[in-house]
Amino acid sequence: MKRIAVIGTGYVGLVSGAGISDFGHRVICCDIDKTKIEKLTRGQIPIYEPGLDALIARNVIAGRLSFSTAIEKEVAQADVVYIAVGTPQGENGAADLTAVKTVAGTLGKSIKDYTVICTKSTVPIGTGKIVQKIIKENNTNGATFDYVSNPEFLREGAAVKDFMHPDRIVIGATGQKAFDVMEDIYRPLYIRETPFILTSVESAETIKYASNAFLALKISYINEISNLCDAVGADVHTVAKAMGIDGRISPKFLHPGPGFGGSCFPKDASALVTMAEDVGVSINTVRAAIQTNEFQKELMFSKLKKLVGNVAGKTVAVLGLAFKPETDDVRESPAINMVNNLLANGARVKAYDPVAGENMKVLIPEIDLYVSWEDTVTDADAFVIMTEWNEFRSMDLELAKNAMTEAIVLDTRNILNISELKRLGFKFDNVGRKVLSDQL
Ligand code: UDX
Repeated sequence: MKRIAVIGTGYVGLVSGAGISDFGHRVICCDIDKTKIEKLTRGQIPIYEPGLDALIARNVIAGRLSFSTAIEKEVAQADVVYIAVGTPQGENGAADLTAVKTVAGTLGKSIKDYTVICTKSTVPIGTGKIVQKIIKENNTNGATFDYVSNPEFLREGAAVKDFMHPDRIVIGATGQKAFDVMEDIYRPLYIRETPFILTSVESAETIKYASNAFLALKISYINEISNLCDAVGADVHTVAKAMGIDGRISPKFLHPGPGFGGSCFPKDASALVTMAEDVGVSINTVRAAIQTNEFQKELMFSKLKKLVGNVAGKTVAVLGLAFKPETDDVRESPAINMVNNLLANGARVKAYDPVAGENMKVLIPEIDLYVSWEDTVTDADAFVIMTEWNEFRSMDLELAKNAMTEAIVLDTRNILNISELKRLGFKFDNVGRKVLSDQL
């Protein structure tokens, strides 16, 4: 059993800390935010993540998981310290490393015996070297340490599942001893035959960005293909299905939509481009994917204007505000762009999301929040699906139509039944399936 300190109780820190404690290790999740730690100690989970509350509760009861603000003390006693603090996007598109550097300084001063320092946050390539330098400069006790880059690939909304059943574990380390310690931590996954990639720190750091930017590229690609489908009378779902059957392409991440959002893809794709530029390398494909994504978000509003005409004075119901279902996260959500465009053009926005409403209200106070889709579409001139929550997939379209002033809908996630929309006489559009709207 290893003694592990996790610094930072955001998505990555909390899920990783709870997950590692479930593997049987003793984990202390640390944060400088006293309120957050107090809440966690009382059993309140600060983020919405399916299954996380049960995972935390189970391990707290078993005595393997606890929370603390005493970072120096916990670090001094730990065999392994995970750095999982935030790396927000800085002004030039690169990640802001302030929190990581502060933690590195604290670690340098606090570690006493051999410690493995492992970064889980997504940090720019080369951060490993910087962290090691800061630790060495502050290492007053003369403790030995190894550095590890162990990027996390969890998706919000499926984070617990992703942590417990990862496609692969990537470990970049400065020494064999560290590889052994890390393999020991993830032993339950080893038994489940999860592939382990043991490599250098730089390769591990690059794998994370290369993976996320590639997925962003894949989404932007299918979004552009969906726009082509609209123009030439093809059905993007059939196109994507046939593409995905080719094992070299795979069916995953080929769903067209209003553009990708969230805390990773937009940030990591921009950071990769900037990092590459700094070393004289152009990554034009990813740069284009970012531009395409901005265009796609704008295109959704253009589609709505085509359906509604001038939106000034109209009431538009926006269903779904999170950047994807099963999360309350609205960071970089395409819904932000839609709502801002509607408000800027004089529309009234009624909005609903099963869990992300309050977060959006903080960002855009002008929206009127409702507690159900039924209330939201009532007296609306149009409604827009922005997030593919299950409850919208099964919505009663007849009821919606009867409650609305006009029967207009833009389905940016292609979840509504086209023949049903046609039968009820809705004026509608979606992404890359115009041909079906015309045919059925
Ligand atoms: C992503 C990566 O999946 C994860 O491995 C990484 O560590 C962090 O970033 P996340 O941002 O939580 O995770 O969500 P994900 O499910 O990957 O979706 C990201 C965005 O892409 C969402 O806005 C989603 O709607 C969009 N998306 C995804 C599509 O538009 N089409 C797709 O086919 C897949």
